[in-house]
Amino acid sequence: MKMIQIILFIFSLISYTSISNATSSINDFCVADLLNPSTPSGYPCKSETIVTENDFVFSGLVAGNMQNSFKVGLFSVNVTNLPGLNGLGISAARIDIGFNGSVPMHTHPGASEILIVFQGQITAGFITPTKLIVKTLNPGDVFVFPKGLLHFQLNTGVGTAIAYAAFTTTNPGIHLTDFLLFGNTLPTPTVSKTTLLDPQQIMKLKAVFGGSG
Ligand SMILES: *[C@@H]1O[C@H](CO)[C@@H](O)[C@H](O)[C@H]1NC(C)=O
Ligand SMILES: *[C@@H]1O[C@H](CO)[C@@H](O)[C@H](O)[C@H]1NC(C)=O
Repeated sequence: MKMIQIILFIFSLISYTSISNATSSINDFCVADLLNPSTPSGYPCKSETIVTENDFVFSGLVAGNMQNSFKVGLFSVNVTNLPGLNGLGISAARIDIGFNGSVPMHTHPGASEILIVFQGQITAGFITPTKLIVKTLNPGDVFVFPKGLLHFQLNTGVGTAIAYAAFTTTNPGIHLTDFLLFGNTLPTPTVSKTTLLDPQQIMKLKAVFGGSG
């Protein structure tokens, strides 16, 4: 590295450290007060006097409901059911995918995701404008989806596949491509014009994903 790059790098480390110290020195934690609305920086803190151990635990991470077109059950543990996560920038989920099912194409705009396969076989992948990464995973395999990228998971095994995931935000949203395109009132001609998909096919998919128009 050139000297100027080294200096800039060290400077960025120092300023990053001082910012994180500044935020963490005020409170050791900030358990979400879910009775107040969430703000861009999270929920306001519950008074420490009423915080208990239960604010830091969620019990009952089971299979989500798999009765849907994709045979996928998603159970998310985020700040809304584990208030101690507030402000920590992490969350978790359990993903169950039935035989021949999938987690459809989606993104988490603000979060990277780490996926730990626990049972069965999952073929996972992500897509960028210049690169396609796809890998078949077995129990014990750990895969990472970089922040914001379009990705998917398929059950390519013989039974139900189970995986656990962790995210680098407290409440990762999920933008499912099919629901974005076919789950609202965006007019069929607009969808057709901007995707080159056949209007008949769009109407069929709108019926599946709850859209109209
Ligand atoms: C947070 O978790 C709850 C409970 O599992 C879920 O209903 C909700 O959709 C999750 N929120 C996000 C943004 O994923
Ligand atoms: C798997 O699902 C696809 C549709 O996603 C369907 O066409 C195919 O028949 C299914 N295969 C089995 C073995 O169920």
